[in-house]
Amino acid sequence: MNDALTSLNGTHELVWSLLEAGPKSKAATANLVVLATSSIENGPSARIVVLRHVDRVSGILRVFTHAASQKVADLNEDERAEIMIWDPVEQLQIRLTVNIEVSHVDSETWSRLGPGTRLNYAVDPTPGTPIEAPENARQATPEASQMLCLNARVLSIETLHITSDGLSRAVFQDGTSQWIAP
Ligand SMILES: Cc1cc2nc3c(=O)[nH]c(=O)nc-3n(C[C@H](O)[C@H](O)[C@H](O)COP(=O)(O)O)c2cc1C
Repeated sequence: MNDALTSLNGTHELVWSLLEAGPKSKAATANLVVLATSSIENGPSARIVVLRHVDRVSGILRVFTHAASQKVADLNEDERAEIMIWDPVEQLQIRLTVNIEVSHVDSETWSRLGPGTRLNYAVDPTPGTPIEAPENARQATPEASQMLCLNARVLSIETLHITSDGLSRAVFQDGTSQWIAP
């Protein structure tokens, strides 16, 4: 077992190091994360997204998405969301409570994106439109206006660590940390 997970401080440090490693490698635990949103009409909605940038100082995680996607509509209605991560090596579940601000991609970010990444956010017709068959969705010319940044501000972190001795669960919020019953 990772010794870091036996203390609250060590657990907090490990969480942020896992998050920071996410955007740097496709093999990293926090490269793909589950983002859950909700809306009154559709209820809860969860999907996998790529973590593109993590800034521990500001506590902001960044994801890219298509401007016409359902998650953007959800977030325009309710900025509250959750991000879930499972680390099979550490046997650690990480639950992040976040508020998400939606913003346009600035020209510097857009210019740094590879053509493959840009194409991920260019589809015709727009995401979610009913079509006869998969081939009826065409690759459109990427446009910066179709791509949005989801800037997720971390409000609290909850961890659940599974060991052969049992479960340990902790909450980190507003600079405080606390073990809680699993
Ligand atoms: C491996 C993987 C990575 C994905 N990465 C993203 C992503 O970074 N951004 C995104 O908007 N959708 C991504 N998706 C697609 C979403 O899971 C989802 O299907 C899509 O965004 C539509 O979701 P929505 O209708 O709830 O908005 C990814 C899917 C997979 C399987």
